[in-house]
Amino acid sequence: MSTDLTTADGGDTDANAPFRAMVMYRTVADFTYDWEVWLGPDGRPRYVSPSCARITGRSPEEALADPDFFATVVHPQDYPAWRAGMDQAREEGAPSMDFRIVRPDGSVVWAAQETTRVSGPEGEPMGLRLSLRDVTDRVAAQTALREANERLEERVAARTAELVQANADLRREIKRGETARKSLEQSRQRIRNLSAHLRDSVEKERRRISREIHDELGQTLTALGMGLARLEKRLPPDDATARERVADIAALADSALSTVRRIARELRPAILDDLGLGEAISAHARTFAASSGIAVTVDAAKAMPGIDPERATALFRVLQEALTNVARHAGATHVRVKLSATKREMRLVVADDGRGAPQKALDDPTAYGILGMRERMRFFGGDVDARQAKTGGITVTAVLPLAHGRKAS
Ligand SMILES: Nc1ncnc2c1ncn2[C@@H]1O[C@H](COP(=O)(O)OP(=O)(O)O)[C@@H](O)[C@H]1O
Ligand SMILES: [Mg+2]
Repeated sequence: MSTDLTTADGGDTDANAPFRAMVMYRTVADFTYDWEVWLGPDGRPRYVSPSCARITGRSPEEALADPDFFATVVHPQDYPAWRAGMDQAREEGAPSMDFRIVRPDGSVVWAAQETTRVSGPEGEPMGLRLSLRDVTDRVAAQTALREANERLEERVAARTAELVQANADLRREIKRGETARKSLEQSRQRIRNLSAHLRDSVEKERRRISREIHDELGQTLTALGMGLARLEKRLPPDDATARERVADIAALADSALSTVRRIARELRPAILDDLGLGEAISAHARTFAASSGIAVTVDAAKAMPGIDPERATALFRVLQEALTNVARHAGATHVRVKLSATKREMRLVVADDGRGAPQKALDDPTAYGILGMRERMRFFGGDVDARQAKTGGITVTAVLPLAHGRKAS
């Protein structure tokens, strides 16, 4: 390679000291991996090291021949900054710069440039020394890292937005579900109130019919019986046929009277109003045993807490339905009825020794008998459980909260 330095006159005078220094510098710089450039005070390249070719794709000779070589190789977008950096280096100091170099084949190389001011022995400015290094790999790695970071941030932002959206959706869903649940609960409550109202009307109606049958029909039949007794006394003692007739009619009237009493009692056990729940249950159990032939054991505590007529009626109807089921479905020989109470609730258990039933039959939504029992208890915040016992028969357990239970109205 030939430069103006090497071709310049190399006399060994003091004035040639810078020249000698440059020759020495050159012999070193020729072998450095970095690209070394000396720009004279006029800005033209005076020396260009061989690495120029590796970095710029152009030969050192081409660089030396071109007074504006850097304008040729620096990326047009980076050139103004490079220019400004060089002016600054000449005036006041040497900044480090990163910029792009475009090769003849269009490929781009990132260069990092260190700039040093060069001065002669008298301190006269001799231009600038540039050391350029190919940092494409480093910049590419930094760019990749930065892009990866940006992508990551984008993904985090997108995911966050998704989560916020999902959260809002979920909240809406929950709200919708709550609204639906509330309206379902409301309509359930309305149905419960309606059926309670119907039960109440039925109870009142039964009580009225019961009283009417008992009082009107009962008194008529009683009067009829007494009339027959008087009539019998007046019959001639020897008229056996007439006496027999009257006795038959009196027996019929008597049986009609007990039927009327039974019906009246079943419609509305006056004993429930008069003697209370425990007695009413015992009385009903006796009647049931007599008519069904199924033995009933009643176990009721003597001292029972006071209970309002609505609750007493409800529990009594549960007993009636449970015993009716035993007679109808169980094929039982024995039923155990147990009534117990704490301060807070009453508990009625009806357990038979019959053939039992699959749980499906007991939980059937069309099992209106069991549903009715359950609804009666739930109205007071209680419940009914009907299930097959280990011993085989069905056990119905009704729980009825006393004063503190939630009473729907
Ligand atoms: N004590 C019982 N023993 C056997 N099966 C029973 C008993 N109680 C109820 N079941 C069964 O449960 C079903 C539902 O009873 P329930 O709701 O009272 O309806 P229903 O008596 O009108 O059939 C009955 O059909 C019967 O199969
Ligand atoms: Mg039934």
